[in-house]
Amino acid sequence: MSNAQDDEIVGKAYDGRLMRRLLGYVRPYRWQVALATAAAVLHSGMAVVGPYFNQILIDRYLAPRQGAQAHNFLDRYLPHKPNPGIEVIALLYIAALMLGFLFDFAQTYIMQWVGQHSMFDLRRDLFGHLQRLQIAFFDQNPIGRMVTRVTNDVQALNDMIASALVAFFDDSFVLIFIVVILFHYDWRLALLTLCALPLITFAAFYFRRAVRDSYRRMRAALARINAFLQEHISGMAVVQVFNRENLAREQFREINRAHRGAWIDAVIAHAIYYPVVDILSNLAVAGILLFGGTWVLHGRLTPGILVAFIMYAQRFFRPIQDLSEKYNLMQSAMASSERIFKLLDTPVTLATPPQPAPISNSPGRIEFDHVWFAYKGEDWVLQDVSFSIEPGSTVAVVGHTGAGKTTLISLLLRFYDVQRGAIRLGGVDIRHLDLQQLRRRFGVVLQDPYLFSGAVAHNIRLGEAEISDEAILHASRSVNLHEFIEELPQGYDTVLRERGNELSTGQKQLVNFARALAPNPPYLILDEATSSVDTDTELRIRAALNHLVKDRTSIIIAHRLSTIQRADQILVMHKGRLREQGAHQELLRLHGIYWRLYRLQYKDQELPPEAAPASLLTT
Ligand SMILES: Nc1ncnc2c1ncn2[C@@H]1O[C@H](COP(=O)(O)OP(=O)(O)OP(=O)(O)O)[C@@H](O)[C@H]1O
Ligand SMILES: [Mg+2]
Repeated sequence: MSNAQDDEIVGKAYDGRLMRRLLGYVRPYRWQVALATAAAVLHSGMAVVGPYFNQILIDRYLAPRQGAQAHNFLDRYLPHKPNPGIEVIALLYIAALMLGFLFDFAQTYIMQWVGQHSMFDLRRDLFGHLQRLQIAFFDQNPIGRMVTRVTNDVQALNDMIASALVAFFDDSFVLIFIVVILFHYDWRLALLTLCALPLITFAAFYFRRAVRDSYRRMRAALARINAFLQEHISGMAVVQVFNRENLAREQFREINRAHRGAWIDAVIAHAIYYPVVDILSNLAVAGILLFGGTWVLHGRLTPGILVAFIMYAQRFFRPIQDLSEKYNLMQSAMASSERIFKLLDTPVTLATPPQPAPISNSPGRIEFDHVWFAYKGEDWVLQDVSFSIEPGSTVAVVGHTGAGKTTLISLLLRFYDVQRGAIRLGGVDIRHLDLQQLRRRFGVVLQDPYLFSGAVAHNIRLGEAEISDEAILHASRSVNLHEFIEELPQGYDTVLRERGNELSTGQKQLVNFARALAPNPPYLILDEATSSVDTDTELRIRAALNHLVKDRTSIIIAHRLSTIQRADQILVMHKGRLREQGAHQELLRLHGIYWRLYRLQYKDQELPPEAAPASLLTT
């Protein structure tokens, strides 16, 4: 459940180190941010002039009083008569409104634009980094967690950049403008208005704490829902075949309920907080009315200023009310960025050396030299394994399940590095070779055939532009896949669904064969699937194998006797050790592990020769 724990991180609302790295993603768009900030300042200016116009309208035209006139800088420019004067003020009011709208639009649009562009860059970096990470990393980290990083966490950062970063300036400027104007009008009334501030701050503090806890529970529940869904949707066939629906429904109800509970708590906190702040700010307005009203009667204040004060007070508390929501936004953004940067900082421990040794195109010798390997700690999966494979020869690896056969291949392809000993290709330690060049030399068919969604031809080519259509055709002809593809509705352009689920396991395997063969690699690695296929496909695969191994150095993890017998050499793995080595007849004579394996597993496998069409056997 480390996944959920990670998603429960609640950190500081502001962390300078994280913020600086985050701003690194905004930096390329700094001019846009400057423009948006300017728009925000102008918008806040437009937002505070409304009450000011009201004050002038009342004090100058509607209820003018001798002596009590507040001095305005607009006085000099406004007409003396109310008749055009009121119209001028109405026009100014509309102009301020329109400009405010324009600046608000510009600010929102630019910042959302910046947010989306920065997030695009961040997602690109995240995926790029994920692709460079060693397979061991993916052994330890569930898929759901990685998906959350690239989607939800990045979204949280976007929310912060787009709606908090510049909105913060907007709100601050509104607050500063209002405070300055209030004190300019009347400092006693201004102080009275500010009296509500400590109470509201206090309420905001409690609200934030209550909501933070609900949000944390919500995120954790959501992470659990995601993980649960991912697992159960992928394994739906197992769920249904073992009638686990009721149990799964119960389990899901549990985490779903936790999510609902957290949401409802957050909603309750909201439902209390906002009315409370409304009451407090209205109490402040009541105070202004009480004192201000009396002062107006005594001629110490103009009615226009009183109206402006009330309008400003109402405008003043809104950003303060929102502040606690923004604070929570910042906090979850900081937690998200901590998780994101932790992923970005995961070191790539398995990479091409700075000066890779050149690698020959023709098949060389493959050498395992006293190789020791463990997936974790000292749980040795391979112990002191040594063998060598001559160029152009075919080697079969056999052994019980879990003996370490697939591990041998993962090491040769350098998905993991060996702990002791060395693996050499053409006399060079593979750790000294360019990683991509090394892997490109191998045609690989993995134990679980994996297809991507997309056309069949795309699945064979896998985006390698150098592979021509002829090469694809040739490859699928030689593994007996061609006729099958021709039968598909759109032939090679038939689009497969995710993981190629509409194909049978045998067909998927043949597509994987064609994929391995298409680039014409000097080395071939084949991890035979244990699942049995029908006789026809078995024959196709057997014939395909003949083609695959021709003129190549091949390592085949074999479960079929036909494959094993054809091999020049058989390696017998047992509990992580290479126990026997030699040709089929030689090994049988030893009466050892191979002999027992043969009797148990392979003896009855051989197909009767008459079952095989002559055309397939001769290939
Ligand atoms: N990613 C991994 N992390 C930890 N342990 C692993 C991992 N992959 C394999 N193992 C362990 O290493 C041992 C050898 O596994 P390996 O996959 O090499 O067996 P195998 O010989 O290919 O078996 P099979 O015939 O079933 O494919 C097993 O005990 C397995 O539990
Ligand atoms: Mg295996």
